[in-house]
Amino acid sequence: MEVVVTPDPGEVAADAIAGHVRPGAVLGLATGSSPLPVYAALLRRRDAGAISFDGVRAFTLDEYLELPRSHPQSYHSVIRREFTDAAGIEVDGPDGEAHDVPAEAERYEAAIAAAGGIDVQLLGIGVDGHLGFNEPGSSLASRTRTKTLTPQTRADNARFFASPDEVPVHVLTQGLGTILEARHLVLVATGASKASAVAAAVEGPVSAFCPASVLQLHPHVTVVLDEDAASQLRLLDYYRFTAANKPDWQPW
Ligand code: F6R
Repeated sequence: MEVVVTPDPGEVAADAIAGHVRPGAVLGLATGSSPLPVYAALLRRRDAGAISFDGVRAFTLDEYLELPRSHPQSYHSVIRREFTDAAGIEVDGPDGEAHDVPAEAERYEAAIAAAGGIDVQLLGIGVDGHLGFNEPGSSLASRTRTKTLTPQTRADNARFFASPDEVPVHVLTQGLGTILEARHLVLVATGASKASAVAAAVEGPVSAFCPASVLQLHPHVTVVLDEDAASQLRLLDYYRFTAANKPDWQPW
């Protein structure tokens, strides 16, 4: 696991992702606030001619149930508005309007597999350590399925809705086992509210109590943090030293 503490997490995460962008690449996209600077940085690089999204496909992590796809806060709407429409990338996501939710979960797993798997998966982290919408207690081997959001996550996401009661209770999310199959995982976290979850994920025991601790089982993870999100890491000085001495030849 490579931990990078930087004043500009969006640019660093965009560096890590841009290295995968080529025709045929499959990107895993996250929603929420953390990825927005990453998407903005990737679009700036495209506009500058440094990368092209031609032939790139994408899959999202999760979706609310009990919310029409046309709702502005459905992740179907959010990812198109925030990134893929501007990038010209074809994107698939779990269908929150599916009548048969288990069948939709199976379809989604099969679609990712048929695309050849995900080359690089962008991730945020919940203050309770959730990854995707895998809340505490999620099996570390889980596949795409429905989950019930914690009161904490519903409260955190209430900022996107007119009232807290509007936040859906149920979601369809890639499982932790699904996420682990992506070939490179890039987690972005900013702000002091994420510090405790980041420390538990990076340095705590691997445990379903902190779903993001499953990252420790993956061979290629880049964790990109600002100072506040990194503030509870015990090996912070070592991560800084490692980043300052990163060999020129070593890719993200
Ligand atoms: C969203 C997702 C969630 C968010 C997490 C952090 O697709 O999978 O795990 O990444 O809730 O959200 P923000 O970035 O809004 O703090």
